[in-house]
Order: sequence, then C-alpha cells, then structure tokens
Amino acid sequence: MFITFEGIDCCGKSTQVRLLAEQLEQSGREVLRLREPGNTRLSEHIREILLDKEFSEMNERTELLLFAASRAQLVGEVILPALDHDKVVICDRFYDSTVAYQGYGRQLPLEDITHINRIATQDLVPDMTFFIDITPELAFERCKDRLAADRDRMEESGVRFYERVINGYKSLAQQDGGRFYVIDGSKSPTDVHMTIWRLVMEKLPLLSSYVGGDGLVMNRSLEAMEVDTVGL
Ligand code: TMP
Repeated sequence: MFITFEGIDCCGKSTQVRLLAEQLEQSGREVLRLREPGNTRLSEHIREILLDKEFSEMNERTELLLFAASRAQLVGEVILPALDHDKVVICDRFYDSTVAYQGYGRQLPLEDITHINRIATQDLVPDMTFFIDITPELAFERCKDRLAADRDRMEESGVRFYERVINGYKSLAQQDGGRFYVIDGSKSPTDVHMTIWRLVMEKLPLLSSYVGGDGLVMNRSLEAMEVDTVGL
C-alpha cells in the first residue's frame, strides 16, 4: 500500500504523516515513512541543492529535473523494494508536488511534467493521496516564525505562487477522484487525522483489527485513540 501526502508548505502534512504512520504501526502494519525530496544518499544531496537559497540562479527546468532525479533514485532504491515486501509506504510529497509546484506554480508545460514524472516513478501511482488544503494566509500564519528566521529557496516564492499551487492540486483532485482526497487542513490535527484514518480504514478494512501478542484479534475504536497534537 502506497500513501502520499500533499499540500503547500506549512499545511500540517508532516504531522499527519507521523500520526497515520503511528496508527498503522499500532495496528500491526510495517510502515516506511519517507519525505521528498530525500531519503537516499543521492536524494539528500539533491535536496540540499534544491532548497539552498544561494542558488537563486537556478533555472526552472533544472529545478524540475532535480526533483525528478531525486524521485527516480528514491523509487528505485527504496519505495519499490519496500512495496515488494508488503510494507505500507507513506511519503510526504510525491509526483503531484511536481505537477502542482513546477507545473501550476512555475507554469512549466504539464505534458512535459507528466512525461518526466513517468520516467522517474517507473509508472508507480499512489493508492491514496491526501491533499491537506489550507489557504496561503493560514500557512504563512502557522509558519511565520520559521519563515521569518530562515526561508528556503522554495519558500521565497510568495502568496501568488502558492495560490497557483493550490489551484493545481484542486485540478488534480478533479481529474483523479479515485485516489485523491481533499482534506480540510484548517481543522485541528486530531480532526484531520480522524478523517484520514477513516478513509484509510475504508481501503484497508482488515486493519481495524489487529492481532495482539496472545494471538487474539482486538478491535481498536477510533475514540480510544490517543492523538498527539504537538508539532504541527
Ligand atoms: P517540504 O517543505 O515539504 O520538505 O518540501 C520542500 C519544498 O520543495 C517545498 O517547498 C515543495 C517543493 N517541491 C517542489 O517544488 N516540487 C516537488 O516535486 C517536491 C517533491 C517538492
């Protein structure tokens, strides 16, 4: 099972990745938590280049190809082998980020991006994608301390850019209703997590029970879940 999270910077998706991973682990699943770009030796180097604001001269096409290069390495080295071993892979961003940021945000041709994404992913498509939807204003409000202290190269882009990125995600949702879920990110982290957990349960109904150490199958109720809301 391959689950991805999408959204603009500071939408709270890292918290949601962590909450879902913990919940799935408690349900007896082996989970691999990843974030893009990164997670392999090569991809981490590419991440540093991509986010370094010293590279203000970076061409939009260079940026596109570096994201794709990082993803190609991650898919081949980590994601496909993990899925082969029946792990649940949860990735903080995947190719929809490239469509939204480089396609809609930077306005590069969408057909080129689709083609490059297919090369990078070997046609791997997530089973479920959660787009955490918040306004740029709320994102900036939530992250104002971090942004004031140390904006990275992407975060320098401004509100207009983020509005285009959000529009991109919304058109992806319209085209791809089967796997793409739009989640209201203005709600509390616990509420957002509950919504996501219910949707995952619909896809993986067997996970609502898990086998305990004594071999008994125990039911977990959503209400009994302890959700840590720190660290949005
Ligand atoms: P992060 O802040 O979620 O770690 O993501 C790093 C930045 O990179 C974020 O501003 C989104 C951006 N990004 C793209 O522009 N295109 C992509 O394909 C990916 C994966 C991220």
